[in-house]
Amino acid sequence: FIEKRLAGKQVLLTAGPTFEPIDAVRGITNVSSGKMGYALARACRDAGAEVTLVSGPTSLPCPVGVRRLDVVSAAEMHQAVLQEVGRSDVFIAVAAVADYRVKNRSEHKLKKGDSVPVIELEENPDILATVAGLPAAPFCVGFAAESQNLLEFAETKRRRKKVPLLVANLAQQAMGADHNEVVLLDDAGAHPLPVLPKEQVAHAIVAHLAALLPQR
Ligand code: C5P
Repeated sequence: FIEKRLAGKQVLLTAGPTFEPIDAVRGITNVSSGKMGYALARACRDAGAEVTLVSGPTSLPCPVGVRRLDVVSAAEMHQAVLQEVGRSDVFIAVAAVADYRVKNRSEHKLKKGDSVPVIELEENPDILATVAGLPAAPFCVGFAAESQNLLEFAETKRRRKKVPLLVANLAQQAMGADHNEVVLLDDAGAHPLPVLPKEQVAHAIVAHLAALLPQR
């Protein structure tokens, strides 16, 4: 049973990986199944929110009642989020965004030649930090998947990106799995959750963020 804790709220989420093309058939991507982001989209919907999901390439079906905008690259995800964020009360960044894109991408398939091709990279915008820094920023929730020093790295990230709520998990444990063990970090400190199915982790995150949400 889920209370309608987000009734009347507009929630914008990012989920899945991004894909940065190198040429017509190759690219750089991150490991992300999209499961956690999609579970959160469903949990927000079940809590009564109107949900828009900006999704990178995944094999998951669009949740019923959720508006999905499909994107491929980080630049496209950034653009879609900026277009939608104005009418959002909550922004939840779950996507595993590629930190870099290919500067010298080729329109056509690169052919094997005499020399090994050199891939030049340039930095992608940080979507979460951009949104959190907007003058009329929605309530922002971030994720941090770390492979070591989880709480220290995650809390540093929470402060740097200026988000009130950050969900920390160990990358080795979370990726592709149906269960997750997370710690919620907010101004009051660290709130660890037990190992739970991603569906229940999502419901716990929604309950926590709804309690922190400023009254409007
Ligand atoms: O990659 P990083 O560990 O910094 O990601 C932490 C949080 O920032 C995640 O919520 C992720 O979705 C978000 N992020 C983003 N845009 C980026 C990189 C990360 O929104 N370019």
